[in-house]
Amino acid sequence: MDRFVIKGKNKLKGEVTISGAKNAAVAIIPAAILSDDVCRIENIPNISDVSLIARILNEMNVSVKMVNKTTLEINSRNMIEKPATYDLIRHMRASYYLLGALLGKFSRAVVSLPGGCDFGVRPIDQHLKGFEGLGASYKLEGGMIHVEAECLKGSNIYLDVVSVGATINIMLAAVKAIGVTIIENAAKEPHVVDLANFLNSMGADIRGAGTDVIKIYGVERLKGTTYSIIPDQIEAGTYMAAAVATGGDVLIKNIIPKHLEAIKAKLEEIGAEIEEFDEAVRVRRCGHLKRSNIKTMPHPGFPTDMQPQISILLSLAEGTSIINESVWDNRFRYIDELKRMGAKISVDGKVAVIEGINEMVGASVRATDLRAGAALIIAGLVAKGNTYIEDIDHIERGYENILEKLTALGADIKKEHVQKDAPPLLVQAL
Ligand code: EPZ
Repeated sequence: MDRFVIKGKNKLKGEVTISGAKNAAVAIIPAAILSDDVCRIENIPNISDVSLIARILNEMNVSVKMVNKTTLEINSRNMIEKPATYDLIRHMRASYYLLGALLGKFSRAVVSLPGGCDFGVRPIDQHLKGFEGLGASYKLEGGMIHVEAECLKGSNIYLDVVSVGATINIMLAAVKAIGVTIIENAAKEPHVVDLANFLNSMGADIRGAGTDVIKIYGVERLKGTTYSIIPDQIEAGTYMAAAVATGGDVLIKNIIPKHLEAIKAKLEEIGAEIEEFDEAVRVRRCGHLKRSNIKTMPHPGFPTDMQPQISILLSLAEGTSIINESVWDNRFRYIDELKRMGAKISVDGKVAVIEGINEMVGASVRATDLRAGAALIIAGLVAKGNTYIEDIDHIERGYENILEKLTALGADIKKEHVQKDAPPLLVQAL
């Protein structure tokens, strides 16, 4: 088992370059199979979620290869229809984009339900509602979702909840459908827009992405393309939060400032000084951290994927702060880990009340998910003593070279291998 060991209290200083957006990559890579030609996708992040989706496509005889460090070439000319089974799918929620992409390409798809999820917990009812709207029918059998249409036809689809995944999946399925599809109450996240831009570069006719009404005029064929995906807004936000938490001074490069507006506004309110350039921001701490209230919202609101990271700043701010998590039902699982580091946080349903403390103290903790892991890293960077973070595979799913990037900024962070039967972490940490 690998874990991160962080010795806290170093201020982050210097420059960091942000990688391509994970949540754009995991949508755009499957989208490439909608073309029969070769697609080159640039600015691909080197993260395990990308390798996984590549392996899933490889199994369907799609050639997916890196032609340089950040460019992926996808050739689906010899693609075969094959169910996407649980073995690989279980590791990755976003594998549900195969449903839309396969349906759009072959008018049918058989994909395992993403692991650990059922319709009651992280539902995909809106995805399926969208597919039905396009004329497909679906059934669930043996843990697999079967979706099939005789002929996909455009229609008006109103999403009952704003869902990134459903918006993307419906775009994938509708792009080659006959006629016009209108998605109302669509998600407006930057990666929704990025997918639309990618598909348009292949010859699709999608209008309105980035607003809550997206119109998709079906086209017969999509050609190959070369496309560069957007920088990762959440990776950028994470380094911004880390710079502020440690009282550092970091230039964060390869970003789109517009995508960071909500994060920037909150960080400034909490005590950051942020200077904006065309494709970079310089982030510094300006005095003591101040309390704040935050409600996570779909874009352009404050992103839920930054909620755990910002909680570290609020834990170190003067006074009491409140976080209202309005997107996910259960995104406070990491709080128990933070409490082990001295945080004073109480959770009631979707609300966390955070009482500021003077200092966090290193402890042995577990990354319960990707962004929780990022938050624990920030906590480790500011804490007194050593922090040991287990289950770091969650973090490596979504952050390219996080160890190298933080080390270059002056953090004392190492990855170490420990025997599975090693004594419990708590004992080791003492
Ligand atoms: C995407 O997940 C992101 N993942 C998540 O990022 C992010 O937290 C989330 O959007 C919200 O911004 C990817 O892009 C791969 P949703 P997604 O469908 O698409 C409910 C990260 O850390 N809902 O927008 O799965 C749902 O339960 C990850 O990078 C339905 O009710 O999220 C939730 O409450 C984690 N029915 C809300 O909508 C549906 O059919 C938003 O979910 C679909 C969703």
